[in-house]
Amino acid sequence: MTRPSLACRRFTRTDLPQIRQALIDVHHDAYAEAMGEEFPQRFPWFVDHWGGHPDFDCVIAFDADEPVAFAYGAPAAPYRETWREHLVTAPVKSRTFSFSELAVRTAWRKTGTSELVVRSLLGERTEDLVVLLVDTEHPRVQALYESWGFRKVGERQPFPDAPVCAVMLAELPLRDG
Ligand SMILES: CC(C)(COP(=O)(O)OP(=O)(O)OC[C@H]1O[C@@H](n2cnc3c(N)ncnc32)[C@H](O)[C@@H]1OP(=O)(O)O)[C@@H](O)C(=O)NCCC(=O)NCCS
Repeated sequence: MTRPSLACRRFTRTDLPQIRQALIDVHHDAYAEAMGEEFPQRFPWFVDHWGGHPDFDCVIAFDADEPVAFAYGAPAAPYRETWREHLVTAPVKSRTFSFSELAVRTAWRKTGTSELVVRSLLGERTEDLVVLLVDTEHPRVQALYESWGFRKVGERQPFPDAPVCAVMLAELPLRDG
């Protein structure tokens, strides 16, 4: 694996107007094969939704000036975490970061870029847990998250037109890869 020389930069809600198009462009490239489907086309709405969260936290990796990957999320509201209905006993320490989206442009795949942005984002989080959703029909992506310490705790369909997703949970800090 050749790791390109990338710089990660961190952004918050106030940066959204400056980074919004970069997120949409990286997402469009990363999901190129799926862009004929309706759900991925709604991504700009999700960017505005998550980017409008007061504690929105986003890392973008740049190759020189070109944005090539991103990871973002925001703290979950206590007692409304997506893992809660799937665990019989809630963890004692349960402050949770909701990891909403990860995308790497196709030309930068299999270079460690996804791990770079994920660890850059989550490495600074002070919550106890991190939760995410991944399409159950994408088992290789689920395996990637498992390699970073996530485990599937259940399934949910977040919206009627969204895919059925695995709910994946990990403790923070993430274990070393
Ligand atoms: C997921 C992603 C960030 C991983 O990047 P990476 O670490 O460079 O790893 P890869 O691109 O090789 O992906 C890992 C595996 O998942 C598969 N995969 C990646 N995205 C996929 C998708 N959207 N649908 C189905 N399979 C996918 C790859 O084909 C690969 O399978 P392989 O190991 O058999 O070759 C990147 O593939 C991506 O941006 N995908 C599109 C967006 C996405 O699915 N994000 C995750 C949302 S939960």
